Order: sequence, then structure tokens, then C-alpha cells
Amino acid sequence: MSSNLEITRKACVVGWPIAHSRSPIIHKFWLTHLGLAGSYDSVAVTPPDFVAFAHDLAANGFVGANVTIPHKQTAFEVCGKVTPTAASLGAVNTLWLEHGALCGDNTDVAGFLAALDEEAPGWDRAEGHAVVLGAGGAARAVVHALRHRGKRVLLANRTRARAESLATDAGAGVEVYDWARLPSALKGASLLVNTTSLGMKGHPALDIDLAPLPPHAVVNDIVYFPLETALLRAAKSRGLRTVSGVGMLLHQAAPGFERWFGVRPSVTPELRGLVEADVLKSL
Ligand SMILES: NC(=O)c1ccc[n+]([C@@H]2O[C@H](COP(=O)([O-])OP(=O)(O)OC[C@H]3O[C@@H](n4cnc5c(N)ncnc54)[C@H](OP(=O)(O)O)[C@@H]3O)[C@@H](O)[C@H]2O)c1
Repeated sequence: MSSNLEITRKACVVGWPIAHSRSPIIHKFWLTHLGLAGSYDSVAVTPPDFVAFAHDLAANGFVGANVTIPHKQTAFEVCGKVTPTAASLGAVNTLWLEHGALCGDNTDVAGFLAALDEEAPGWDRAEGHAVVLGAGGAARAVVHALRHRGKRVLLANRTRARAESLATDAGAGVEVYDWARLPSALKGASLLVNTTSLGMKGHPALDIDLAPLPPHAVVNDIVYFPLETALLRAAKSRGLRTVSGVGMLLHQAAPGFERWFGVRPSVTPELRGLVEADVLKSL
């Protein structure tokens, strides 16, 4: 009985463009390793077509979907029910159906925290604030996650007004810093997170001096293309603990898989190796 149900379970990742997404590798790995008969594919949907796609999700045989750029805000708007995390961010990256109603969550928050907990245990108990670079969609999830763990956040972005808007939405504990004042923000910080697209292949490098960071600081670059950015190399050469963006990518996928296929999957070294090999192949 249950295997017949599993056969009908079909999920996808929807975005525009979508060819670059590693989500199918992750979910197909879990389906195979858990012996489940579902499917997971990429679906390219343009912005004007997204609302209709979301409304027709069940009619098209899907039990849910991951949502990526540029649809995360629209996905939030079309949901009948969202988690408190998604409500705080105004963005949804995971859709599922409950009694026919479209529901949404933002699992980037849990994914970011799970990666840090796994790769830099104790990071949230270390003395000092966090410095977050960037104020785009990913920064909103990262700042929300850091405030959830009680970290004070100093936020710097090329466009200061965007950082101010994020800080206002996030509430107490988030202070905007001019990019030019980064050296003083880094002093005493226990965590530095890059959420800008700087350092990503095809984008300029993120060029900042890490010297003011204390020796116990952790440096997390959520950019995972390349796997090791110049920022992470610089942090390693200073002897600092580093966390790449791959862990967040892997961990944010798990809650959706559990909702659609009924089993909580694990982020294993084998899965990480598979995704890292795919990134290396594409560079
Ligand atoms: N590891 C993961 O699971 C994961 C998840 C989500 C995102 N990411 C990565 O995070 C990065 C950001 O994603 P996003 O969705 O937040 O993008 P986004 O909303 O477009 O935000 C981009 C951010 O980068 C900044 N930026 C872009 N070009 C810059 C430049 N030349 N100089 C200084 N700042 C610059 C922008 O500053 P302005 O506001 O001034 O334009 C903004 O803060 C991407 O590389 C993405 O791949 C990783």
C-alpha cells in the first residue's frame, strides 16, 4: 500500500533559470539510498508563469517543490499557510500540500544553522558578535538564524539602504555598519558570514582584510561555487575555522524531502562528495 503511494510522489525544484541547480542530485541520492520510488526533477518556470504553476502543483501530480531565484517572494504570497520562519522572511523555498492547500517554509535558516553546528561546533557559545556581509535574500535568512541563536549582528552591505531595511525588519540586535568601517566591525567578532555574491565564479572577489578578527573566529562563506573561495583560503591561512556554503545547500534540502517523502534524510559524506564533485566538474 505505502509503496504504491510512494510511486506517485513527485517533487521538483522550480526556478528561472534552473539548469545550475544541484537540488536534483541531492534528492535523487536520498530517494535511491532510502529505496523510495519517488521522483525529483528541475522545472524551468518564467516569472509571469509562476503563480499558475504553484496553483496547479497538485493538478500536475506534484506533492511539493523547492523554489529558487527569482520566485521565493511570490511563492510566499501564493501560500495559504506558512511557517513562522517563512512569515518572518517573507520568502518561501519549500512548498508542500496539506488537504489541497499550498503551504510554505524557508529552510535556508535551518540549513545555515545545521551546517555551522556540524562544521564549527560551539560557534554560538563563543564570545563576540557576528558580522554579516550582504543584505539580499540569503542575508535575511542568515540574520534571522543568528538572532534566533542570540547573536548580535553587525550588518554591512554595498547598498546601505538595503541593509537598513533588513535591520529594521529583523528588529533589535542588528546594527548597520558602513562597508568602509569593516575593520572595526571585525574586531571582537566570533563569526564572519559572506552572503554577497562576491567570490562566486564570474563575480569579483571579496577582498577584505581578516587581520582584525580574533583567533577563535569562524569564517563562513555561503557561496559554494567555487567550493573554496578566496575568503575561505585567506581565513585558513590565518588559522581560522572555516565553513563553506555546501553544508547549507545540503542541510536546507532535508526538511522538504521529509515532508514530501515521509523520511528524514541524512547529510552523509558520500552525498557531500557527490555534490562537491559536480561543482568541481562545472567550474
Ligand atoms: N549555500 C547556500 O545554500 C546558499 C543559499 C542561498 C544563497 N547562496 C549564495 O549567496 C549569494 C547571495 O544570494 P542572494 O540570493 O542573497 O542574492 P541577492 O539577493 O541578489 O543579493 C546579493 C548580495 O550581494 C551583494 N553584491 C552583489 N554584487 C556586489 C558587488 N560587486 N559588490 C558588493 N556587493 C555585491 C548585493 O549588494 P547590493 O544590495 O548592494 O546589490 C547583495 O547584498 C549567492 O552567491 C548565492 O549562490 C548560497
